[in-house]
Amino acid sequence: MSTVAAPALSVKNLTTEIRSRDQWHQAVRDVSFDIVQRETVALVGESGCGKSLTALSIMALLPPGVGRIVGGRVSADGQLISGIADAEMEKIRGSRIGMVFQEPMTSLNPVLTVGFQIAEPLLYHRDLSRRAALARAVELMDLVRIPSAAQRINDYPHQFSGGMRQRVMIAMALACAPKVLIADEPTTALDVTIQAQVLALLAELQRSAGLAVLLITHNLGVVASVADRVLVMYGGDVVESAAMPDLFQRPTHPYTTALLAAMPRSDRSSETIAPIPGQVPALAEMPVGCRFQSRCPLREVRCVERPPLRPIDAAGTHHVRCWVTGGAP
Ligand SMILES: Nc1ncnc2c1ncn2[C@@H]1O[C@H](COP(=O)(O)OP(=O)(O)OP(=O)(O)O)[C@@H](O)[C@H]1O
Ligand SMILES: [Mg+2]
Repeated sequence: MSTVAAPALSVKNLTTEIRSRDQWHQAVRDVSFDIVQRETVALVGESGCGKSLTALSIMALLPPGVGRIVGGRVSADGQLISGIADAEMEKIRGSRIGMVFQEPMTSLNPVLTVGFQIAEPLLYHRDLSRRAALARAVELMDLVRIPSAAQRINDYPHQFSGGMRQRVMIAMALACAPKVLIADEPTTALDVTIQAQVLALLAELQRSAGLAVLLITHNLGVVASVADRVLVMYGGDVVESAAMPDLFQRPTHPYTTALLAAMPRSDRSSETIAPIPGQVPALAEMPVGCRFQSRCPLREVRCVERPPLRPIDAAGTHHVRCWVTGGAP
């Protein structure tokens, strides 16, 4: 009898609210996806679409009093991790799910050495001695290709370049050999060459450690080079999900089409880049129904009802949340 392994990370119907001006608004709406070992799922969308809030909800790190999870379940390797006690979640964070946060300078402590910060999760989760944890920190810095790791372990974050700080963040996230890595815009602040190096590094670490990766980015070029599957998010909704080549070959939701048209590509001139008009509305100003309708060239009367996320292919792997373009296969 064969048993199918549970996904490394499973998110079902995750719904999160954010408080703004004393009202709670849905900022992540009914988001579901699974990631298996060695798979990279990319979460894409413009600024303010709910990508980071999805990650923070999974990690139970929403700002208290401002964010709250109101529905859904998150499991890691088949074990429910949403709604569990803080002390239990603390054991899972860092040890089973590593996270690279969007802002390295706010996540790194400026008054602690880089080496200590990489070693800290090992002291906390693995009960290593200080000496053993620091030795492991040097190995981790080597692993993420920080030159002269043994010397640089005593440096402080401000003594590192942006690219090197990003590597420190990755080393911290991987210190306890988690099975899942959530990387929130790990390369956004970096120039293109360093960005490519950090992505190549992530891909290599993923292959060697069998990691399941949730990669958050607004950069579709990054998605094309590393993702197996893509979730396109708008206004807290997953509006389209597909295997990576399908999304680029058959973009179907008007928002996905617009994102792709706005993407700079080497095979076309910059004049053909069409920025998406307008911007993501604030949560308090989101339209009822399809949240993209206020910017959508294909809007119809029925868009005031929220469309379901429906499969558009016979295999049921490509899903679209649109009344107009997301018809049944
Ligand atoms: N702490 C907070 N307080 C108030 N509103 C918030 C807070 N965090 C997020 N929001 C709001 O929730 C929505 C989703 O934010 P989120 O940070 O998840 O976006 P994002 O997709 O990660 O964007 P970016 O690409 O800029 O990182 C936005 O409207 C944002 O203004
Ligand atoms: Mg973000």
